[in-house]
Parts: sequence; C-alpha cells; structure tokens
Amino acid sequence: MKDFSEIKEQVKAKLAEVADSEKLSDFWQTYLGKTGVISGLMKEMKSVPPEEKPLFGKAVNDVREWAQELYRTKQAEIKEFELKHRYEREAVDVTMPAAGSTQGNLHPITLIKQEMIEVFAGMGFEIFEGPEIEDDDHNFTRLNVLKDHPSRDMQDTFWLTDDLLLRTHTSPGQIRTMDMKKPPIKVLVPGKVFRSDSDATHSPMFSQLEGLVVDKGITLCDLQGMLDSFVQSIFSDTAKTRLRPSYFPFTEPSVEVDVSCFECGGKGCPLCKGTGWIEVLGGGVVNKKVLENCDIDPEEYSGLAFGIGIERIAMLKYGISHMGMLFENNLDFLSQFKA
Ligand code: PHE
Repeated sequence: MKDFSEIKEQVKAKLAEVADSEKLSDFWQTYLGKTGVISGLMKEMKSVPPEEKPLFGKAVNDVREWAQELYRTKQAEIKEFELKHRYEREAVDVTMPAAGSTQGNLHPITLIKQEMIEVFAGMGFEIFEGPEIEDDDHNFTRLNVLKDHPSRDMQDTFWLTDDLLLRTHTSPGQIRTMDMKKPPIKVLVPGKVFRSDSDATHSPMFSQLEGLVVDKGITLCDLQGMLDSFVQSIFSDTAKTRLRPSYFPFTEPSVEVDVSCFECGGKGCPLCKGTGWIEVLGGGVVNKKVLENCDIDPEEYSGLAFGIGIERIAMLKYGISHMGMLFENNLDFLSQFKA
C-alpha cells in the first residue's frame, strides 16, 4: 500500500516556505483545494483493485487530514505573526507632543478697514456698497467729470465697453446714495477700485473708503473736525490735519488732507520726507452741480465728501514700504497682523 511519502515531503517543504496569508492561500489551492494535488489522488482509485479500494480511500483521507492539520497550525502562526506586525505598524505614541494647529488671522487691509469704519460709525455714518462695474454716468458724468474733460486723465480707467468700466473710485457711491435717499445723509462707501497704475505705492486694484455728508449748513469745518477725530483714532491722540487747496471736479472747494507726522511729531523724518506732514486723503465740499444732478437743492443743502485710500493708511500705520506686500499673500508677512 502507498504511504504517499513523496507527496507528504512535498507538502512539508512547500508549507515551510509559506510566510504570509497570501502564500498560504496559494498552498491551499495547490494541495487541498477541489482541484488540488491531494484531491487528485482520488482519481487513481480507478486503477486500484476492488478489494484495495477502501484502504486506498482511507489512505488518501489520512493524507488529507494530516495536511489540513499542518495547514491549520501554519495558519495560526501566520495570523499571530501578521497581527503582531500590524500592531507594531499602527502603534501610537501617546507621549508624543500633539501636532500644532496654526490659526489664521484677518488681512491687514480688512483690519484697518474695520478700524476705520468703526471710527466713522461712531460719528453716526451708515454703510453703503455700490457695484465694482460702473457706468460712465455714475463714475464720471454725474460727478461733474464731463466727457473730454482733462480731469478724466487723472484716473487711468479700465474700460469694459464704451459705457461700462471698473470704477476708478468709490465716489459713484455718492450718486447712488443720493439717488436712493434725500438729506440728511451720512454715509460711508468702502470698496475696491481699479486704475491702470502700478508701482511701489500704486496697484491696479486698491481700496477706498468714501464718506458723504449732506445736510443743512454743512461746511469745510465739519470735514476737518471729522478728519481730525479720524486721524487721532487711527494714528495718535495728538495728530492733527492740514488742508491744502486741490482740485476735484465733484467738490468745490477741494482739499488735499495731510496728517501731522505721527512718527516724528512734526519735526521732520524720513516717513514725512522732512516736511512734518503726510498726505492721507482727498475731500471737499460737494460741488453744487453734483447735488443738482441728484435732485437735491443746493440752496437748501450742502455737503462734504472725502475719499481715503485704505492701503495708504495701512502702509503708514503699519510701516509697509511696498504696496505689493499687501497683495502677495506671503504668510510670514501676513501672520504679523495676528491680534
Ligand atoms: N474720488 C477721489 C479720488 O479717488 C477722492 C475724493 C473723494 C475727493 C471725495 C473728493 C471727494 O481721488
């Protein structure tokens, strides 16, 4: 009677080589599966004399059981081995310091804008935001900047069509406000504006804060009073303003407003270029023509208006030398503005 010792040696040798569950499953297919070597032995039954058939059958079953037992032992070993490795791989060192999470912060333009709005809100201003795409009428004509007037060249305009443009200033917000409501008006228009201009202190997109007050008896003194209180809140308790004559088609008289240098207190330093004063904004008394263009009687009402460059205030307040830094999104720069 065969004892299948050859097959047994083969099984032992093959199983000794198996080192993981994948190889173990291959081993099962090869020897113990339905089409495996051991099942194949049964096919030899045909050539076995009838009286030996029962013995032959038992011998094959014995080999099968023997091989299954070896298989199960190996299976247990591999399972334990693999589990151990998995635990090692997935081990967590609870004594390790936690990964830090970095917290973001508001952009300096947002910070200074909020601060500026708060100062004026304290004086009773409301907020209005107009569209960034404007038409010629609101951006120029009704602000008394007539077609072909040379002052149009003061603002290098991005035209979209013959009539539409990216607003060059927040002053169209004055027209939109006066179209919507009648005096008393006290409104702030913050927003992005666009001009084809780019260098250390100019960017094709920047932000302005427009102010408009229309009521009975409003004068240039009211403008200076408000602006004094604005620069004192933003720069220094002792800051004052100085008005210099200027020209804007939508204000008459028009002024350029300087703030006393908060760096040197007016003695003269590099920031104020030795003059003791720093230019911060433009403004004036609302031109009567603009009031008329909005159906407000200039004999009854008068107004003041101003436009502040928000980036300029941020650069002065935070000591930023290049406007580009405000738009580059360099995190080393931006994270300095954490509250
Ligand atoms: N719109 C002007 C500018 O952008 C600023 C300004 C606003 C001047 C309001 C006077 C009154 O330069």
